[in-house]
Amino acid sequence: MFKIQTLNKIAKCGLDNFDEKYEISDTVENPDGIILRSFKMHDMKVGDNLKAVARAGAGTNNIPVDEYAKKGIVVFNTPGANANAVKELTIAGLFLASRKVTEAVDWAKTLKGNGADVGPMVEKGKSAFAGPEIKGKTLGVIGLGAIGVQVANAAEALGMKVIGYDPFVSDYVTLHLPLNDNTKGLVNAELLENANDGIRILNFARGELVETKALLEALESGKVASYVTDFPSDEVIGVKNVVAIPHLGASTPESEDNCATMAGKELVDYLENGNITNSVNYPSCSMPRSGDLRITIAHLNKQSMLSQISSIISQHGINIDNMINKSKKDYAYTIIDASGEVKDEDIHAIADIEGVLKVRIIK
Ligand code: MLT
Repeated sequence: MFKIQTLNKIAKCGLDNFDEKYEISDTVENPDGIILRSFKMHDMKVGDNLKAVARAGAGTNNIPVDEYAKKGIVVFNTPGANANAVKELTIAGLFLASRKVTEAVDWAKTLKGNGADVGPMVEKGKSAFAGPEIKGKTLGVIGLGAIGVQVANAAEALGMKVIGYDPFVSDYVTLHLPLNDNTKGLVNAELLENANDGIRILNFARGELVETKALLEALESGKVASYVTDFPSDEVIGVKNVVAIPHLGASTPESEDNCATMAGKELVDYLENGNITNSVNYPSCSMPRSGDLRITIAHLNKQSMLSQISSIISQHGINIDNMINKSKKDYAYTIIDASGEVKDEDIHAIADIEGVLKVRIIK
C-alpha cells in the first residue's frame, strides 16, 4: 500500500489514477508521494519515506527542488497541461493592456442610479478610456516554452508582429519563463530604461520576475503604459494603469483536470515502476518492466558510480536483465531489472556507496 498526501484540492480525474493500492488523504502520515498545486513546501518537514512530489502545474518555485534532489526525492511537474488556459488569459491581457477595459468597467458602475441619463453620460465620458488596437503592433515574447509558443501563435493570428524579446522595438512584452535565480528581477530599472516608450507589459508567469520599484517608477513616468499581472502585490494593487488579476491563468476546469491527470500518472508510474517522466530535478528515465524485480537508484552524477553499482550487484550474485542510466546536471538515475533473489543486505551495500541518494526495490 502506498500513501499519498494531497496538499491542495486535486481534481477527481487526477485522484482516479490511484487505485486500491493507495491510501490518499491530506492528513496521511509519512507519505510515499505528495501531490499538490500551489502549497508552499519550503518550511514543511518531510518524512524519510517520501519518494516523489508531483506538482499539478508548471512552476515549481513553491517546492525546495534542489534540497529534495539531494535526498533522492524526485519532483515532477506537468509542462504544457495548462498552456492553453494561460495562453487564453494572456491574450485577454493584451486587450486589457490596450483598451482600459477594467478602468472603464469600474467607471460605468459609478453611473448606477442616473436613470435615463446613463446613456448620454456614457457617450460623454467614454473618450477617457480609448486605447489602441493590437493588430499591427509588435509583441515580444520572453520564454518560448509550451505557453510562450502558444501565445506567439495566437498573437500572430490576431495580426500582431511577434518577435523574440527585444525591448527596443516591442510595443508589448509578455513573460513566459520560470522564476529562478537567473530570472528573478529580469524586468528591472536598466531594462525598462532601454525599453520602447509606452511599452505594455504582461506577466502571467511569476510576480518576482519584475522589480516592483522600477516598475512603479516606469508607470509613473509613462515609460510603461500598462502592466497586466496575474500576481497582485500590495504595492501594485490600485496603481493607475495596472490590471491585477488574482492568479487565474490556469484556473479553468480543463486545465485543472489536465494537470491533475498528468501529475497523478507521473506519480503512479514512479511509485509502481520507478519510471521518471517530466521531473524538474532528475532526468527522464524509463523502460518497460522485465525480470523478477526492479532496483532504482537516485545518485550523484559523478565518475565511477555505475561501475561501483554493477560491481556490488555482481558480487551479490544478482543477474541483470536490463539496465538504463540517465543524468541531468548534478544528478543521475539508474534502473536495473534483475532476476533471482535480492536481499536487504544487497540494497544496503548499494545505498552505502558514496553519492548514492536513494535506492528502491520494486517487486
Ligand atoms: C503554473 O505554475 O502552473 C501556473 O502558474 C498555475 C499555478 O500556479 O497553478
